[in-house]
Amino acid sequence: MQDQMVNLSLIPNEEFYQEFERGFNVVNGDLTSATYRALVNFTESVNYPRHRWFYYREGFSPELVNALIKEFDVPEDGLICDPFCGAGTTLSVAHERNLRSIGFEVNPFSAFVGQVKTRDYSEKELMLLEQVITELVTNEFDYEVALPENDYLTKIFGQEMLFELLRIKEFIIQIDDAKVRDLIFLSWLNSLEPVAKYRKAGNGLKIKKKANKNSALSPRDQILHQMNSTLEMIKVDLASTSSFRTEPIIYEESAMDMHQFLQGEQLDAVIFSPPYANCFDYTKIYYMELWMGDFIKTRSDQKDVRMKSVRSHVHATWPTRYENYYLSELHDVLLPAVRSQKLWTNRIPDMLKGYFEDMNVVLNNIYKALRPGGSCAIVVSNSSYGGIIIPTDVILAASAKNIGFTVKEIEVERLIITSSQQYKVTEGLRRFLRESTVKIQKPYET
Ligand SMILES: C[S@@+](CC[C@H](N)C(=O)[O-])C[C@H]1O[C@@H](n2cnc3c(N)ncnc32)[C@H](O)[C@@H]1O
Repeated sequence: MQDQMVNLSLIPNEEFYQEFERGFNVVNGDLTSATYRALVNFTESVNYPRHRWFYYREGFSPELVNALIKEFDVPEDGLICDPFCGAGTTLSVAHERNLRSIGFEVNPFSAFVGQVKTRDYSEKELMLLEQVITELVTNEFDYEVALPENDYLTKIFGQEMLFELLRIKEFIIQIDDAKVRDLIFLSWLNSLEPVAKYRKAGNGLKIKKKANKNSALSPRDQILHQMNSTLEMIKVDLASTSSFRTEPIIYEESAMDMHQFLQGEQLDAVIFSPPYANCFDYTKIYYMELWMGDFIKTRSDQKDVRMKSVRSHVHATWPTRYENYYLSELHDVLLPAVRSQKLWTNRIPDMLKGYFEDMNVVLNNIYKALRPGGSCAIVVSNSSYGGIIIPTDVILAASAKNIGFTVKEIEVERLIITSSQQYKVTEGLRRFLRESTVKIQKPYET
């Protein structure tokens, strides 16, 4: 994904970025080297019950959500929303704290993970889970299965492994109890990448260079080994967390349509991280899980998910929408500068324009749904194209201000490193290449 040529004369200078962010309270903005502050990424989540059931690369940490709930003084009976809930970190924390919560997510696989992680499970279901696990490890899986029409899946797993995965899936589909079935299914989905010939990398999948850890075992044993390690975690976590908490409501819908599902002025806090304007397409990253899990069955299903997502990538052609959004720094300076560069695809300027139009709609929806005095935190990363830094944090802060929010602060969490070519070009401006939390509040009197 390398940009090919840089027209230096049109690159906005340091003064432009400084001036643009001057009106906002940028906290911690003088970082000179990457701090890799752990809270804005998922790595810490592997230490937390339930959160660790699926490694969602793009997620943030439960600690961050806990800190924000405290900072925003969310009342004990409060209502929290995550309009881009992914694998459900915000909702899981709300569940742990017995707070009510609502999430929106367009990727059906991610929404499934969020749902399974935030359900309550009765004693009876836990006993049933044990029983099914015993059946699972002793079963021969002699089901008749047909290979899917999608050839790429055969390439990703190899034919023998693919057949075995499908036979085990057949066993899972036949489990009667829906909640137990979903737990086992999650463990099966979690086994896909470790037994595949491909791994998640950047914006999609790449062939693995090394053999898988247990490749000496039969395909059946490799899969069961992986499933078992997830199921062990699940059992430990379910034994240590009490039940009968408030379960979140998760809508498999777009954040741009959230107003259709919420009544006005009811949310106490909104805590989220949207897709970044970095060209990543979640239907490519979660290709294995989406197709193998039957969350998408045809190319047209895949297209539908893409079309519902915010315009953060170039793998779909969206109809013109929400064009009444205008911000001088974006439309008069940054977008013309990006348009003047020769990039790896000429669709990037339109993607960026669309991204901020979509995000402006989401911010408007949040404004309407928050109670007066309610707070919102947006964890977001800036990006860079052809040497031009797109200060997403400041653009979102400016959009929020225009809508009527009070922008409390832009807290810089860490600096980010881009490709070496971009790194060279952005020299001197690197402190604007960062991941931040934008904190905004709906005023008490509007
Ligand atoms: C950065 S991830 C959020 C991760 C989440 N904070 C977590 O910890 O799991 C952004 C999510 O937004 C989802 N998404 C993209 N467009 C969306 C839309 N229009 N409405 C709702 N969700 C969307 C993506 O599928 C992705 O799961």
